[in-house]
Amino acid sequence: MFTYKGTVLTLSDNHDLTPEYIDSLVDFETKDDDVFVVTFPKSGTVWTQRIMTLIYAEDFPDKADQITYDQMPWLEYRITGRDYNTRPSPRLFCSHLLQPLMPKMLQRKGKVIYVMRNPKDVMVSYFHFSNNMNHLDSSESFDEMLEKFFTGCMIGGCWFDQVKGWITNKDKYNILILTYEEMIKDLRSVVVKICEFVGKNLSDAAIDKVVETATFKHMKKDPLANYEFLSLTVTDRPKRLFLRKGTVGDWKNSLTVAQSECFDSV
Ligand code: PPS
Repeated sequence: MFTYKGTVLTLSDNHDLTPEYIDSLVDFETKDDDVFVVTFPKSGTVWTQRIMTLIYAEDFPDKADQITYDQMPWLEYRITGRDYNTRPSPRLFCSHLLQPLMPKMLQRKGKVIYVMRNPKDVMVSYFHFSNNMNHLDSSESFDEMLEKFFTGCMIGGCWFDQVKGWITNKDKYNILILTYEEMIKDLRSVVVKICEFVGKNLSDAAIDKVVETATFKHMKKDPLANYEFLSLTVTDRPKRLFLRKGTVGDWKNSLTVAQSECFDSV
């Protein structure tokens, strides 16, 4: 992992990830029909990414069997050799970046969907994720994980900075703010909200199909949506990757009262 300007990123062989590349992103030219899904890690990125590719399915008829991140790549984790400038419109991206590192032009052209989640659930989700992935620092206990969460020693950096940056600057963007919790409570309403926001006129039946395909149960069985092909997991553990439990309030099964109170006070 490396830290740059407050954000923490993971290095891998097939990405162009350098400080220069991250710096260049503020000058990235956005277009009116670009949509960026922005999240802090473990807040529902892969879920929203999947929903977006389903909503835009007719725009990618030849990509239906492609991996979700090929249809909607991460801005900061650009695969070596790919050129986002020549990517045909409509372009969909996702990102975990802090607000100041994002393209400046996005404040005039393009849309942002910002998804946030109860930080205690984010932390518990990251604990399991990082303990399952070869390339991430694992944590022995939730005390250790709490320390990392509070000091921003995890992918994305500091949850507080990331969320605060986006929320306090929201009026600068054409932005839809969603929560993981409302997606769990009523996915259909969220899909309708997203369609209205991005200007997609889907039939009721098409919306039902998006909702059904994006349920936890369905996505868990979909190797492309769940990124099962990535050989990043610790081999002696169950292959869990991005879809683990998909519930609200799992922190209650993991944190002690003292840990939860400590979290609340921070
Ligand atoms: S990452 O690594 O930042 O891209 O992770 P991210 O996708 O943001 O978050 C992973 C958590 O989202 C849950 N998830 C879902 N929940 C409900 N329904 C669906 N379809 C779904 N897809 C992903 C996933 O299970 C992770 O949460 P936890 O609490 O660990 O289960």
